[in-house]
Amino acid sequence: MTAGGGVDETELTAPLLDPAVYAGDPYPRYARLRAEAPVARNDTLGLWMVSRHAEVVAVSRDPATFCSSKGIMTFEIGSDYATPPTMMHTDPPDHTRYRNLVQPGFRPSYMRALEDGIRRRARALVDRIEPGVPVDVVADLAVPLPLQVISDLLGVPEDEWPRFFRWSEAVIPGATDWPEEERAQLSVEMVTYLLEAAADRRATPRDDIISELGAAEVDGDRLTDAELGMFLVQLLVAGNETTRNMMSGGLVGFADTAGAWEGLAARAAAGTNRALPLAVEEMLRWTTPVVAFMRTTTRAVELAGKRLGAGDPVLMLYASANRDESVFGPTAAVFDAARDPNPHVAFGFGAHFCIGAVLARVEGRILLEELLARFGSIEPAGEVVRTASPVIAGVKSAPVVFGAR
Ligand code: HEM
Repeated sequence: MTAGGGVDETELTAPLLDPAVYAGDPYPRYARLRAEAPVARNDTLGLWMVSRHAEVVAVSRDPATFCSSKGIMTFEIGSDYATPPTMMHTDPPDHTRYRNLVQPGFRPSYMRALEDGIRRRARALVDRIEPGVPVDVVADLAVPLPLQVISDLLGVPEDEWPRFFRWSEAVIPGATDWPEEERAQLSVEMVTYLLEAAADRRATPRDDIISELGAAEVDGDRLTDAELGMFLVQLLVAGNETTRNMMSGGLVGFADTAGAWEGLAARAAAGTNRALPLAVEEMLRWTTPVVAFMRTTTRAVELAGKRLGAGDPVLMLYASANRDESVFGPTAAVFDAARDPNPHVAFGFGAHFCIGAVLARVEGRILLEELLARFGSIEPAGEVVRTASPVIAGVKSAPVVFGAR
């Protein structure tokens, strides 16, 4: 409480900037924020936190007032980039141009054409799992599958996968406890490799997304070499860790919820076409792999009764919005693989809505299909260890045991 008897918003929000909180359970604090201070001010950082679905959507759909160009993570507060480090850091009209140039590489028909390859990869991993023998779904499924898919997408040979894995781990704040120097060194290696790959495909196009993006043209405009290289970095980072945690967090949701797997199997067997896509949406909502992204106000603005100044950072807590009872009802805190409708914001909302959403959904569905074809149950087999990161809701290990069909 403050001296005036109101909520001390700095005290209420402070733990949500502490990585350690995310190794535990941040959800009770989100619930307090939604109820007591849905647009809360943290005076120490001069930052606002937005915890309800309605305000997360309102902020996301108004890039003119809530811009991305001053950073999307809290460690970037105060940044003023001469050149945006990623497409996520651009605002319209630059963002619109960038997005139009890369969108063709992600058209749904192209993503669906990848299905056979994804299924082959998923099947090979699922084939190694024995019914009744505990496995770690993180190491055995969720780490390798998205990494292999993104490597296939980028045309990266199999012998490079271990390097890719280390690179993508190194660039996510809090994902590992590697020394800062080692992380920086790995990031430099990654950028160099991908910039070279971009230049190589421009010179000698192949049948991969790098070549496709290199050749994309809108009204005579093309991505520069630097833009193409940075986009590849972003794909590796954005498409890997996120999809991994959707899978591991989602499978933990099934293991921890009595009857959820059997219910899904029954709906799928009854020929309910939407059973698997709906289950994937719930895995996304439940896990919310990207905990939060930030915007910065370009002018003074009112939001849910609060007066925000110009230049104020605003953190959108996707993870909280996805448990908002006013949208998801009294079962908001329950993993319900048949939830319908499910208007979660795990992929963000508005102009920056995740460009890889179709791919992540296809990967999630295929993994479920392959697992359902072999296993009749999934049960916890040990403690789930979570990553201490305020950006990515990571699962480090999650032992489960699958039962035979
Ligand atoms: C479960 C998996 C995924 C989740 C939860 C996720 C989440 C998100 C979120 C929340 C945003 C919004 C950023 C913002 O508003 O500032 C976003 C954007 C983006 N995502 Fe994903 N993502 C996933 C998978 C992927 C994949 C597979 C790829 C690529 C292969 C990808 C590439 C991108 C890119 C390039 C953007 C930037 C789009 C823009 O700025 O217009 N993501 N993602």
